[in-house]
Amino acid sequence: MRDARTPFVAGNWKMYKTVAETVKYVKEFRALVKDIDGVEIVVAPPFTALHAAAEAARNSNVGIAAQDLYWDREGPFTGEVSGAMIREAGAEYVIIGHSERRTLFGDTDATVNRRVAAAFAAGLCPIACVGETLDQRERQETFDVLDRQIRQGLDGLTSDQLAQLVVAYEPVWAIGTGRNATPEQAEEAHGHIRKRLRQWFGPDAAALCHVIYGGSVKPDNSASLLSQPNVDGALVGGASLDVRSFLEIVTKGRDAARRR
Ligand code: 13P
Repeated sequence: MRDARTPFVAGNWKMYKTVAETVKYVKEFRALVKDIDGVEIVVAPPFTALHAAAEAARNSNVGIAAQDLYWDREGPFTGEVSGAMIREAGAEYVIIGHSERRTLFGDTDATVNRRVAAAFAAGLCPIACVGETLDQRERQETFDVLDRQIRQGLDGLTSDQLAQLVVAYEPVWAIGTGRNATPEQAEEAHGHIRKRLRQWFGPDAAALCHVIYGGSVKPDNSASLLSQPNVDGALVGGASLDVRSFLEIVTKGRDAARRR
């Protein structure tokens, strides 16, 4: 159980890295971060490498996340993986509703909601992703989109669950484009999300829920993003694939968050 908004930095590896590459990375990375405190550090390898990653990270300060889950515990669902299976493989977190899952694989706010509930039921910490497209931003619909994604995606959660959840704000136009949101744009969206969480789940839960930013986070912008009062961490794609660059994002981000 978390009792404060310690900075949270996660690497979403997407469909990159074999088992061998994962083990090599985690072994090297855990040694580099072993003395780094004041930040929760997570990596999310593909399903095939989850167990090996968890074994390689055992007794370290590196947590392991899956990139998705299915909501039933078991059954005739070819190709799907349940929360219980992920938990047993050694992961403690799961990314849910990433924009790539929404646009390429049919995820909706309703399925995100089922997955978030299933993650809690399996004892996993959900990292629930939200964010607007460029069109939506240009039409000034960002807050409406975020409201809908949060209200529907998190519907039915208790305040205690909300307090343990991580919301990842990932503007779709910033993902994999090299065009990150400015710290001011991120803070504006995060502040809005926090305001809604306060209204819908109460001040105590909203004060504990992490709202992290994702979209072209790199070593040279993690400090400015994490210096914002409502930016509690980062969900890093491409730049998390390299041990040194992810390490730099983690340390610079943590240091900036400490100063805020
Ligand atoms: P990039 O950091 O590669 O832009 O990806 C962001 C992302 O989608 C993290 O989930």
